[in-house]
Amino acid sequence: MYMTTTAIAPTNIAILKYWGKEPGKEELSIPTKSSISFTVSDLETTTTLESEKRKGAAQEISLTLNGTRKAEVSSEHRYVDGFFRTVARFFPSVSEYDFRIISQNNFPTAAGFASSASGFAALAKALSGEVLEMGNLNEDRLSAIARLGSGSAARSIPGNGGIVLWQRGGSMWKSIAKSLYPHDYWPDLRIIYATTDAGEKKVKSREGMQVSVATNPLYGSWVRYEEKFLKAAMLEALERRDFPALSGLIMKASNNFHQICFGTYPMLRYLNESSFRIIEAIEELNAGGIKAAYTFDAGPNAVIFTLSKNEQETRRALSGIARDIRVTKPGMGARFSDKHLS
Ligand code: DP6
Repeated sequence: MYMTTTAIAPTNIAILKYWGKEPGKEELSIPTKSSISFTVSDLETTTTLESEKRKGAAQEISLTLNGTRKAEVSSEHRYVDGFFRTVARFFPSVSEYDFRIISQNNFPTAAGFASSASGFAALAKALSGEVLEMGNLNEDRLSAIARLGSGSAARSIPGNGGIVLWQRGGSMWKSIAKSLYPHDYWPDLRIIYATTDAGEKKVKSREGMQVSVATNPLYGSWVRYEEKFLKAAMLEALERRDFPALSGLIMKASNNFHQICFGTYPMLRYLNESSFRIIEAIEELNAGGIKAAYTFDAGPNAVIFTLSKNEQETRRALSGIARDIRVTKPGMGARFSDKHLS
């Protein structure tokens, strides 16, 4: 007998970045530091999970992503295999099922738009609806499960979405993400996705961050600085809904993260010429007072924060540089759906 569950999970954009797992705890994705993100409305992954009691000796997992069946040797398939293997350490019955996964993103995959975050959040949510003993998982625990697939996925779980803090935690059930303020906390905040390059990124986050932890001599100082000072300052600006203060901190955190990438050996370069042009355009826009903030993940695409009153001006500043501009706002977290993909 088949069980079919569908879940939808949004992506999230980190304003305080996660970049590195604690050495020795990589398999559990225990981060070296806390991170903060906005759950994003409209940019989502829908995942249908079919499970059936395993027939053969080996567990069978098939993965169809955006209409394409992924080969077992593909990185996506290997990440999914690894996820089920690690989840089975905590919920052994997971290994007694064969799984068929059909997953669809409504935005470009793997170009720094955190598709692994929404992807694994949707998969974890769907799985929690299927495998019996997981049925009673609360949201904290589900965020820890999603983290096993991809660290940033933990932050896409909390149903209230909005502004989410993923605490470093240090261990399996303590390193969890929680919504600090719900999706409607800051109604005039706008999140603009500016695509400069929709292609796949060169070095995947998973590999890149491992090299940063291992080779960047300033890595430890970055972690301490962000955990101690930047995190506290951001939480305060968020509490006050102080847009100019928060914007400055968002841009600093993005710069600090890319500085960590540059100081990695071999060097990690995620920003391209268009990314730097966007930084310049935002700096010009902010010359007379802060109107917008940029952040970049492990890819050349920018995510810009602004307020609704400055949306048009911000769009104008980006036009001619970004190939595609998509305006969204803070949204809700993962949820079930009864519209199954086939
Ligand atoms: C730059 O969550 O994709 O987007 O845990 O290895 O799957 P894994 O990494 P992933 O890394 C995201 C890195 C980032 C910053 C962030 O989202 O905090």
